[in-house]
Amino acid sequence: AGPLTMFSEQLPTLAELGVLDMRAGGQTELSMLNAGHAFHGQLGSTDTFTYRADDGSQTYLGPVIVAQRGTPFALTVHNRLGKHPLAFAIDDELVPPGSDDANTPRTSTHLHGGNTRPGSDGGPEQIFSPGSSYTYHYDNNQDAAGLWYHDHALGITRLNVYAGLAGGYLIRDTPGPSGTGIDTGDGTHLPPPPYEVPLVIQDRMFNPDGSFAYPPNPELTTSDGTPRPWAPEFFGDVATVNGKCWPNLDVDRGKYRFRVYNGSNARFYNLKFTSGGNALTFAQIGTDGGLLDAPAKLNKLVLGPGERADLVVDFAGLSAGSKVVLGNNAPTPYPDGPVAAKQGGVPLREIMQFTVQSQAGYTAPLPEKLRPQPMTRLAGLPTAATRQMTLVEVLNAAGIPIMALLNNRPFHTTDITAVQGDTLEEWELINTTVDAHPIHLHFTQFQVLNRQRFDVGKYLAATGYVDPGTGLVTPGQGSSVPVTPFLTGRPKAAPANERGWKDTAVSMPGEVTRISVPFGAGAAGGAPLAIGSSFTGEYVWHCHILEHEDNDMMQRYVIE
Ligand code: C2O
Ligand code: CU
Repeated sequence: AGPLTMFSEQLPTLAELGVLDMRAGGQTELSMLNAGHAFHGQLGSTDTFTYRADDGSQTYLGPVIVAQRGTPFALTVHNRLGKHPLAFAIDDELVPPGSDDANTPRTSTHLHGGNTRPGSDGGPEQIFSPGSSYTYHYDNNQDAAGLWYHDHALGITRLNVYAGLAGGYLIRDTPGPSGTGIDTGDGTHLPPPPYEVPLVIQDRMFNPDGSFAYPPNPELTTSDGTPRPWAPEFFGDVATVNGKCWPNLDVDRGKYRFRVYNGSNARFYNLKFTSGGNALTFAQIGTDGGLLDAPAKLNKLVLGPGERADLVVDFAGLSAGSKVVLGNNAPTPYPDGPVAAKQGGVPLREIMQFTVQSQAGYTAPLPEKLRPQPMTRLAGLPTAATRQMTLVEVLNAAGIPIMALLNNRPFHTTDITAVQGDTLEEWELINTTVDAHPIHLHFTQFQVLNRQRFDVGKYLAATGYVDPGTGLVTPGQGSSVPVTPFLTGRPKAAPANERGWKDTAVSMPGEVTRISVPFGAGAAGGAPLAIGSSFTGEYVWHCHILEHEDNDMMQRYVIE
């Protein structure tokens, strides 16, 4: 598309995205449909997928589901999809034999961040096709948090999410009187709607007629010499927020609670709010799995795909008519890029704009403590196992990336990690690649302990992943080994704004990221965790760069 005018579209707010209020429990339905969506007035209508509520009018993304802690409900999702808007980007090498996703797209609806029983998880193989439905049971037995639901079908997750199959999911809680127990405090002391606004950030690329573009991989060809549709990362040249390109939001002079989602396929953001060249200080009040103990003051925030941040931004000190730009300066791929220039893309410096109005808005002070009692700290608690989990990139003989793996195993390995229910484990995410990867575990919320550098070359040699003859990683070969002898730096503790519950954490290149992972409600000796229920069964963990997840950076694990 030609350059689109920035900030001419208005941001859809929570109410305009549509709220599916399930706080009273019961059951509800969503239909996955083909639709036409207006991303920008200067673009033609875009063929999309959407999750539409019964009384909804969604044409992209889904309504925001609002749930109440401890109140279960059932969600039936109907697959009524037809021709895939990104059919041209389906890669036959990544999808199960016999599937015809171009005409009958497979789907699976995952509740990301949910403490969900295995049958309702919406894993990559719990698929259902057009003409059929799937009913999910959500217990909501966990802290108030900003979760999201999105498609997860094996081998086409990146295309189904790109087309629009994603939506917000907010768990609410009633704040208890101070000192009476864990108060996940989603309540009275934080800006409520309309001052609470989800920001689902996704980079996209459009053809002049408005249709979605997804460039093929110029570096990799199929056996007949045509470019592979799968590329190691998709980076779009247009920022969309809540389904509008570079939108504007008119804001009152007061505090806003932004529930920020990185819903992009592969792009990391280093977000900043600036007004007239000055960076605004803002507060992060929560992470993926709920509130922090106390607000963390920031002037920039890195968010990897799949991660969320609960932010409070105060516009009270700005005069009417002031413009605030939400900007970004993260290289692609993160952190060392730059592939964007090579692909003709741009670093996507602007995301959206806020225009300050004259009226006062929500001006109550932000509390210094968000939880009357601190959340459980997992650091230092006894762990049942410490596991070395490696992140590996596989290159062909020409040095071109052909896939990424966990533990050097493809998704369909029979070598599946088994963990014991109600135990606490420490996972060392050992990133041997040159890029950052957001690592996500289903079922649980965990905590980031620290990060430490290691010698990648020596570590890789010790694993036996690398064939000494070719110097290339051979998938399936070798095994993860302890990283301790190869550590070089000192461990750096997680920063204040990351010391909360996480379900997705950034693993930086050349670093070991240590996470403390509870596998069930009894994992910390009965101390309250972010999640309330123990289930046994099969789940997955994976990189949330959707191009990586689809090929083949995802593993199953079993809770016994
Ligand atoms: Cu957000 Cu396994 O996914
Ligand atoms: Cu990755």
